[in-house]
Amino acid sequence: MKKLMAANWKMYKTGAEAVATLNELAELLKGTAPEGREIVIFAPFTALERASGAMEAIKGGMIGAEDVYPAAEGAFTGEISPAMIKACGASWVLTGHSERRHVIGESEDFVGEKTAFALANGLRVMLCIGETLEERESGLLRNVLERQLKLGLKNVPAETPVEALAIAYEPVWAIGTGKTATTDDIVETHAICRELMREILGEKADKTPLLYGGSVKPANAGSILALDNVDGVLVGGASLKADSFTQIINA
Ligand code: 13P
Repeated sequence: MKKLMAANWKMYKTGAEAVATLNELAELLKGTAPEGREIVIFAPFTALERASGAMEAIKGGMIGAEDVYPAAEGAFTGEISPAMIKACGASWVLTGHSERRHVIGESEDFVGEKTAFALANGLRVMLCIGETLEERESGLLRNVLERQLKLGLKNVPAETPVEALAIAYEPVWAIGTGKTATTDDIVETHAICRELMREILGEKADKTPLLYGGSVKPANAGSILALDNVDGVLVGGASLKADSFTQIINA
């Protein structure tokens, strides 16, 4: 399986800024993702169309949206549909990111609705899961991951192609804090995720990329990518500058 090198730009970059970063990235990568790697950049809605155009200069590069609403169209002020995302040239979407769960207040059921609807409407979905520090310290790690995976993947259409889904494990306490999980934590937690994915997805589980996210940087990306059951990384802060994301992509 190719390693998936994913960037989540969150609420950073206008369209023009996104294009400038992608142009720089294309130059640093000499127009192609390295052998055995694919790149996906999750960009703000307002930058999606221009970012998709600029990404054409990088072979093996794709663009995704950071959120989606589970309806084809309608009176849902401020929301956007899978068709609108695809019309911008983007092929992926994030669901269940911890900031949407914990800052915006999205429920686990709603994350599941978004995931299923986006997959049924031809988007590739990266479902994010992860525990808070309080949950980890209370011994609830496995319960939280199991609940988020089961509810996040409920109603996933059976005909979903295996390449359409990815799971990103991001411990909430490691996001934007500079605190990376230890390699032992990542190995242990990714093994739990993979086991749960096998229970839920059956034989597709081993072909479904499982990414790690949370304070990934050029200095730790190589050792994280070498761990068992780590099929890629989802990078926030360190993906905003083309040179540091290039170092991660090449790690
Ligand atoms: P940081 O890499 O800034 O910790 O963010 C991780 C993240 O939330 C990616 O989705």
